[in-house]
Amino acid sequence: MAKKLFIPGPVEVHQDVLNAMSVPMMGHRSADYAALHQRVTDKLKKVLYTEGRVFLSTSSAFGVMEGAVRNLVQKRCVNFCNGAFSDKWHDVTKRCGIEADAVHAEWGKPILPEMVDEALKTGKYDAMTIVHNETSTGTMSPLEEIAEVMKEYPDISFIVDTVSSMSGAKVEVDILGLDVCVASVQKAFGLPPGLAVFTVSEKALEKAKSTPNRGYYFDFLEFAKNDEKHNTPSTPCISQIHALGVQLDRILKEGIEERFARHAKMAEKTREWILSKGFELFAPEGYRSNTLTSGKNSKDADLEGLKKKLSERGYVFDNGYGKIKNKTFRIAHMADIMPEDLDDLFKVIESIWAEN
Ligand SMILES: Cc1ncc(COP(=O)(O)O)c(C=O)c1O
Repeated sequence: MAKKLFIPGPVEVHQDVLNAMSVPMMGHRSADYAALHQRVTDKLKKVLYTEGRVFLSTSSAFGVMEGAVRNLVQKRCVNFCNGAFSDKWHDVTKRCGIEADAVHAEWGKPILPEMVDEALKTGKYDAMTIVHNETSTGTMSPLEEIAEVMKEYPDISFIVDTVSSMSGAKVEVDILGLDVCVASVQKAFGLPPGLAVFTVSEKALEKAKSTPNRGYYFDFLEFAKNDEKHNTPSTPCISQIHALGVQLDRILKEGIEERFARHAKMAEKTREWILSKGFELFAPEGYRSNTLTSGKNSKDADLEGLKKKLSERGYVFDNGYGKIKNKTFRIAHMADIMPEDLDDLFKVIESIWAEN
């Protein structure tokens, strides 16, 4: 039985988007592919508020996240860490043999602009990484305020993971001055996994030219060179790029601002429901994600049992990630999930609890 996904990726995929993946294959060095690639990247530029380049990588996001540090750290990197994915990015940076320090906030808490300023003013770093929307905790760090701080440090590469916020919350790449902004499509875009979307600023591309050991698959200069011909360095996942084109049409038809507003409304609805059931919210007020909500299991509810019963009824529910498993739970409200879908989920959960 197909189950309805309320987890923060992979997410539900609309049937029109799935259908777009079954169109006949084409060669990726053909004019037809270049036209598809250009159509898709032009639409992505609208969603990302950028006139710069948008690249497509046949990988999940972590490929590009690893690529970003390999391309842009020449001296030392500071990884801001406030959850599982930002912690992992620090580990990945070190595994690449790159000198790096982690600056930690407690899981669930945001990265604040003053933390960024304090680290960068040491003069030790030429690159920083930050996760905009920590999917492990449902915490959204204040990217606009952090971007203001980053304006004081124009020589430090500003590398941002928007994996679970891109296309579900406004991220204005050019205004914010992001050097790299990356997401995978199995989150707020609402596509099957296997494709990542990213931007690289011209300043970052210029810097990459003098970075040794960029490797090949995620060498940003290879992406830039191929982008001139609306193409990719290696064979791309063409079926998925067709699907992304169809989904971008759906996104633009809904309206980008309207889409962000729908996500914010669903976040508000989910927060209210969680509080009404006597739980607390994991992230502090003002820093709660618009694409997923994390509740604190303050009532010590049997979340494993709930997950199992929901699964029997055809719903996939998440009982927390990593070291906060069962201490928290996450409800994703991203991509094509509608407020009515949440009503439905909440009713089923209430009926399960009523049985106990
Ligand atoms: C914030 C964040 N960063 C990175 C990742 C890793 O993305 P991927 O699995 O596409 O490499 C995830 C996956 O859930 C995520 O939520």
